[in-house]
Amino acid sequence: MTRTLGILLDRWILNHILAGRQVFEAVELYRQPAAEFGLALALFEPHGIDRRRRRVRARRFPAFAPVWLPVPAVVHNRALQYPSANRAVRWLGRQGAAVFNPLVPAGKYAKHLALASSPALRPHLPAALPLSPRGLGRLPALLEPSGSVFVKPATGSRGKGILRVRRGPGRSYLVNGAAVGRADSFRRLRRRLARLSRRRRYILQQGITLARFQGRPFDLRVHLQRGEGGRWTVPGMGARRANLHPFLTNLTRGGSAHPVREVLPAAFPGRDPEAIAEQVRRVALLVGETLERAWPGVADLGLDVGLDADARPWILEVNLRELRYTLRDAGEPERWALTYRNPVAYARHLFDIRATAGMTGRRHA
Ligand SMILES: Nc1ncnc2c1ncn2[C@@H]1O[C@H](COP(=O)(O)OP(=O)(O)O)[C@@H](O)[C@H]1O
Ligand SMILES: [Mg+2]
Repeated sequence: MTRTLGILLDRWILNHILAGRQVFEAVELYRQPAAEFGLALALFEPHGIDRRRRRVRARRFPAFAPVWLPVPAVVHNRALQYPSANRAVRWLGRQGAAVFNPLVPAGKYAKHLALASSPALRPHLPAALPLSPRGLGRLPALLEPSGSVFVKPATGSRGKGILRVRRGPGRSYLVNGAAVGRADSFRRLRRRLARLSRRRRYILQQGITLARFQGRPFDLRVHLQRGEGGRWTVPGMGARRANLHPFLTNLTRGGSAHPVREVLPAAFPGRDPEAIAEQVRRVALLVGETLERAWPGVADLGLDVGLDADARPWILEVNLRELRYTLRDAGEPERWALTYRNPVAYARHLFDIRATAGMTGRRHA
């Protein structure tokens, strides 16, 4: 019997793929691993589900002609969380499909709380609070360790809407480098942030003074996935250096991707770059184990990890279903390809446990 791995994509992504346009989902990279693990692939999107007849309108390699297939038993969910995709994911689950990744609370604060449940992660987790009157009261304490605090939209991405607050000369404060008044600076800052929080949810996060590469701050995008045997694995990491922007390393903000083997020796002369990378991997694996307890089935993550002057890793953000192109841009095609192989390996593992559960008469959700 053919085992079909369903890959649930956003509708517009699938349409771009069908039109032969380049998108960040490099679906052709699934093909070789699918052959290796003995799985067939079916691309589909939320609107291609026929609930009444319990089937999906799928596209298969290489021709992508539409075919109706029964609901795939295992689905790699690559859709963003919006209502139609969420309904599709819930429906697939009710049909008995094993769907990874699951729906999870999207906000940065929920992720922070999930990570904070692990004592071992705490030395690597910047303190964070929701922006609220109480949170504002704790602003001076958050500023203490590094002299900076990041103010981030709770559901933002791509560096949008992020502010950095720092101490200025005397008793003044700076927002994105500009002084917030001279006298009364703290009161004005509080008023300004309180105004912000009326429009949107934000978090306050302790700032980390990022290490520098070629004179500019950088952080790491660390891929973290479940792979063969369901084990967590780090297929690779890429460094992202801020260029145009003073403190955002996002590639969408003009950041550039670099291989860690170039960045770590340059940023930390005299230190063992492999030991630094190893510690980052160790922290990342811990993140996987911790988040899995909170959100079973989570399998496909991209961590933003900052390194401070001592090369200590700090988890700045956890991205779900991230775009996976940092390794491509950092010139590491083999590692980039691994970010597509791991989900297929994990899917194979899920098929195998379902088969075992079936043989012993147990049901596997
Ligand atoms: N606490 C922090 N300390 C230092 N730099 C940070 C911190 N938080 C974020 N940054 C910088 O801002 C970038 C964007 O922040 P992030 O939390 O990843 O938001 P987004 O979801 O918009 O990417 C990070 O990649 C990093 O360069
Ligand atoms: Mg980010």
